[in-house]
Amino acid sequence: MIEELITRWIRPEVRAIRAYHVADASGLIKLDAMENPFTWPEELRDDWARLIRDTDVNRYPDPVARELTARLRDSMQIPGGAGVLLGNGSDEIIQMLALALGGEGRTVLSVEPSFVMYRMIAAFSGLEYVGVPLTADDFALDEAAMLAAIEEHEPALLFLAYPNNPTGNLFDAAVIERIIHAAPGLVIIDEAYAPFTDASFMSRIGEFENMAVMRTVSKMGLAGLRLGLLAGPPEWIEQIDKTRLPYNINVLTQLSAEFALRHKAVFDEQTGSIRTMRGYLMRSFEQMEGIEPFPSDANFILLKTPHGKAMAIFESLKQQGVLIKKLDGSHPMLEDCLRVTVGTSEENSAMVTAFEQSLGEVL
Ligand SMILES: Cc1ncc(COP(=O)(O)O)c(C=O)c1O
Repeated sequence: MIEELITRWIRPEVRAIRAYHVADASGLIKLDAMENPFTWPEELRDDWARLIRDTDVNRYPDPVARELTARLRDSMQIPGGAGVLLGNGSDEIIQMLALALGGEGRTVLSVEPSFVMYRMIAAFSGLEYVGVPLTADDFALDEAAMLAAIEEHEPALLFLAYPNNPTGNLFDAAVIERIIHAAPGLVIIDEAYAPFTDASFMSRIGEFENMAVMRTVSKMGLAGLRLGLLAGPPEWIEQIDKTRLPYNINVLTQLSAEFALRHKAVFDEQTGSIRTMRGYLMRSFEQMEGIEPFPSDANFILLKTPHGKAMAIFESLKQQGVLIKKLDGSHPMLEDCLRVTVGTSEENSAMVTAFEQSLGEVL
């Protein structure tokens, strides 16, 4: 019986994981996954198509993606002395970190609620995971609880998403600094949402022996390319890089990301307008009866909805052709919560209208 084989050979921690679920968005306005809603201008597309046309794929890619790395260093203002490694999305970097720093009895520490892949990757890499709850009212770092957990568990790896997903807020930089000083292992500041905030630890690489910054190009508008990076002290990067598969960044991604970053101004304009529309959406939600939007430095907004109504609002929006993310049910601190990604102004208007309609139905 195949079930017996599965039970015997698939590791129990893997069997226990619920697979990462991606909702089907066919035919819907897609505001569930923190993507940039804008596509590329025509001239850019033509130049890109020409570049691809002249690219050969019979050879393996450059294993260290030299040109792309140089471009990333420049466009993300990575300090000159820092080491850099690239991943197939920052998800893959989390996995590399787990491979390099994991092992029997080792722990990954993060906060709750936060990005689910920290917990999932720890689980399937055989690491212990400890999630320290954020404060209940405003999702801030609970400094005393963090310091106590660090002392108790001595984590090999500590992840802080800055801004945090799914709450959208920035943590207090002074508290983060004290956490870095207290942590015995490596602290990763995950700046996936960097295009939507002015705060960053990037320029502070080197100030701490045990801090590295993770970035991705996904949220700025290149989610389809799958490219993330880790920048930090070269001694750490050199070791972690040993767990990277030799050709993890394919030829088309190297070429396309390097090309796109040469035109970064286009993406800066897009992310700038997403920031502006985030303000517009925030004000719209503030005016809705029973809705509490949380402050956001990211390209999404977390919303608390009237008790027991999140599912009905989510379904009503879907009926009206809008897909957002239902967080209610995913974590006790996210009870009644939904998350909306900022879209184009047309998408935002359609979503706001649909949201108001849904509230009329459920209240
Ligand atoms: C905090 C955080 N880190 C990392 C990622 C993963 O990004 P990537 O697309 O580079 O794998 C996400 C994606 O949602 C995220 O929210």
